[in-house]
Amino acid sequence: MASSNLFVASVVMLFWSFTVLGQTSHSSVKYPLVVSTWPFLEAVRAAWRAVDDGSSAVDAVVDGCSACEELRCDGTVGPGGSPDENGETTIDALLMNGTTMEVGAVAAMRYVKDGIRAAKLVMDYTQHTLLVGEQASAFSISMGLAGPMNLSSPESIRKWVEWRANSCQPNFRKNVIHANSCGPYHPHGDASKVVGNSMDVNTDFNILGVPMPNSNQINRYNHDTISMAVIDKAGRIAVGTSTNGATFKVPGRVGDGPIVGSSAYADDEVGACGATGDGDIMMRFLPCYQVVESMRSGMDPKRAADDAISRIARKYPNFVGAVVALDKNGVHAGACHGWTFQYSVRSPSMNDVEVFTVLP
Ligand SMILES: *[C@@H]1O[C@H](CO)[C@@H](O)[C@H](O)[C@H]1NC(C)=O
Ligand SMILES: *[C@@H]1O[C@H](CO)[C@@H](O)[C@H](O)[C@H]1NC(C)=O
Repeated sequence: MASSNLFVASVVMLFWSFTVLGQTSHSSVKYPLVVSTWPFLEAVRAAWRAVDDGSSAVDAVVDGCSACEELRCDGTVGPGGSPDENGETTIDALLMNGTTMEVGAVAAMRYVKDGIRAAKLVMDYTQHTLLVGEQASAFSISMGLAGPMNLSSPESIRKWVEWRANSCQPNFRKNVIHANSCGPYHPHGDASKVVGNSMDVNTDFNILGVPMPNSNQINRYNHDTISMAVIDKAGRIAVGTSTNGATFKVPGRVGDGPIVGSSAYADDEVGACGATGDGDIMMRFLPCYQVVESMRSGMDPKRAADDAISRIARKYPNFVGAVVALDKNGVHAGACHGWTFQYSVRSPSMNDVEVFTVLP
């Protein structure tokens, strides 16, 4: 009995190894698959329900990121979080179809809370890639999204009031006079360098240590993004992101969230990538483009992720960030710098979302 079971099992294995020709020899179904930055469990479950039901990868990404916007994941996605210097919340989001390389994105969008849906409208109903600011809001509303509405919440306003009371510390200004107060700010001239009023110049960038009066505190709770990748049942890949950006940012700031190749990138022929962290720095390196192109030229996901992070760390040893890489066969890996990173995965072989922890 036992040996005939074994025989059946080995025939099945043999059959598998022939049917998955050319792929890594896992004898399990590899997709659909959902991968997301951070333990945003409900967002991953929402995307999984959609893609397991037969939705396209693009639609599943929209469902997943929307869930995060509605739940205001960590307060850094959706409305009611991350007030800027004026106390306002704005929305950045991106959606990419890895089959066609179509992208839709919105940045610094005001008065409309549905970031990923707005990104989809840009993708579906324009030939553009990125709309910004109030014009992104007007477009989204004209195409059917709710608004204009107040994106502040009692929490975001309370946070902002406390920040004002604390002389607007920390902030993202540098080389300005009055960086240690609420401004108005002026460029730091040579004259003031001579008198050396360092108390008034925001140059400290102490990310993980004791908060300095003038330092930017980037951490998981004031600066975060959902970046999600989905492979659907047909093997098509899509990625999306949504965030309300960095807390106490200079109004008008756009981070990596809506920048294709930075916060996310996908190509059906290769795989996908999602990123999170200090977007102001990461967007200078297009880490997700780097990851996907490295995998295209033969690196496995882990090496590609490590390589993208180390390129940034060489220039910015204090940056905080992470990427998660995913090849088209569903093999995934993360890399991070300056913090411990977690990402979530739901695959056919799991009963529920599983969270993976990556150490710097
Ligand atoms: C990408 O766009 C194509 C063409 O519109 C569509 O057929 C496909 O379903 C989209 N891809 C995904 C992953 O949804
Ligand atoms: C927006 O909402 C916040 C928080 O509920 C509130 O404090 C603020 O007054 C509102 N702004 C406007 C213009 O209604």
